[in-house]
This record gives sequence, C-alpha cells and structure tokens, in this order.
Amino acid sequence: MALFGSKKDYSRTDVKVPESLGVIMDGNGRWAKKRLLPRSAGHRAGAENLKELCRLCKGYGVKYLTVYAFSTENWSRPKDEVDQLMNLFIEFFDKYDAELEEEDIRVRFSGDIKGLPDQLQEVCKRGEERSVNRKTMQLIVAINYGGRREIENAVRKIAAEVREGRIEPSDITEKMISDNLYLPDVPDPELIIRPSGEMRMSNFLLWESAYSEFWVSECLWPDFGYDELTKAFIDYAGRDRRFGGLSKGEKK
Ligand code: FPP
Repeated sequence: MALFGSKKDYSRTDVKVPESLGVIMDGNGRWAKKRLLPRSAGHRAGAENLKELCRLCKGYGVKYLTVYAFSTENWSRPKDEVDQLMNLFIEFFDKYDAELEEEDIRVRFSGDIKGLPDQLQEVCKRGEERSVNRKTMQLIVAINYGGRREIENAVRKIAAEVREGRIEPSDITEKMISDNLYLPDVPDPELIIRPSGEMRMSNFLLWESAYSEFWVSECLWPDFGYDELTKAFIDYAGRDRRFGGLSKGEKK
C-alpha cells in the first residue's frame, strides 16, 4: 500500500528537491530471484522503472538525474548477462526516445563510451544528438563508467597540458580536475540514492560526490517509486549540509 496515498503530490512542503540527483540502480538480480525469474527479467524491469524515475524526477523538478547503468567493473559478469544488458540499452534508448521527448528530457551519456559495442555507441550518439535541445531535465546515463577511470582520464588530459608546457604542475587546481571530467557542466549531485540496502559507492561519481548526501533504501530498484523517492527527499530536507564548516546557527 502506498505510504503517501496513491496520488503523486509534487508540491508537498516537507521535501527538499535536489537540482542534481544520482541514483545507483541496484537490486535487479534480487528482484528477479524473488520471483523465480532470470536476472535478465530483473534488468528489464529495472529499465522500465528508469522511465518512471524520469517522470517522478521531472514532476518534482530535478534538473539533472545521473543513473548508474553499467560500471567499468560490470564486464566481469557472465558474458550472457553483459550481452543482455548491452542489448537492453540498445533497445531502450531507441524505443523510448519518443517518451523522453514527450517529457522534454535530454539524454546524455557519461563514461568510457568508446569501450562500448559499436551499435551501442551509435545509439548513444543518436540519443544525445536528437535530444540536445530538450530543456526540462537532463538524464545522464553512466555507462561503462568508473569514478576512478574518470579521474584517471582527467589527470591524463592535465598531464598532457603540462607536457606541452601550457601549465605548470603548481597551476593544477581542483577546478581544473572538475573541468576535465566527462561532463563538467553537470553540477555535483547534492543527493545520491542507493536502493537495495548496500552502503557503498561502488565507484560511482567519486570526485563529484565529495559533499553529496547519501540515502539508502531497502527497496529493490525495480520497485523503487514515488513513495521511496519522496521519503528520500523528506530525509534530505532534514540534512544539515555543512561542507566541512559549521551549521548556520553555530557561526559566530
Ligand atoms: C545492478 O543490479 C544493476 C545493473 C548492473 C544494471 C543496471 C541496469 C538497469 C537498471 C537496466 C536498464 C538501464 C537502462 C539505462 C536502460 P544487480 O544486477 O547487481 O542486482 P543484484 O545486486 O540484486 O544482483
């Protein structure tokens, strides 16, 4: 039964809505196992739920939604599962673009895209190109993404600048590293949500999450909906984000 009633109310006053939200979509396998279904069915249910999450985030007014779809470590899964996931991504971004268009959602990809199968690279490119003028929300799909890989790439780009004599090592700043990440214009997530109960980052947005709030739900990703998202935003409303400083009331 819905905790907050069946109606979705995006104007409630007890929530705080982050401008930039990260979600680690975890628990597809457990969801499938509970139903005696193959893992691929869990991933498909997870993909369906991503559409719902987009609608919910847009309803609440989130501007940037970054979801973790496939990590640089996920290649170590059985080949069958990896192939099924790649095919699901290919199917999803072509098939559902009309719905994303209706919602005015721009799609972008973050990660080592060149390491993906050619057909998927084309789907990513097409998806980005045709949605580039959509303004209401950005869906950022982290695919073949690793936070360490992202930082490694940034460091490599900066090292090349040093080698070419354009900058000195002492010129390197945090901002320079941020500016060399995959999508430097996307704000750091204020909140990261992880369904399925695990309390770890799993190499997601390592640099960007330095001051993100973290919220974990026991709910498995394919079941994660309005109630869970609302609970996360209510909890986030009560967080005291000090960024290493003091609470507002404590400043003297
Ligand atoms: C983790 O669940 C999930 C993934 C590795 C894949 C995420 C993919 C989706 C949600 C599907 C589609 C996404 C897009 C972008 C179309 P798990 O398999 O590790 O679950 P478990 O921990 O319960 O085994």
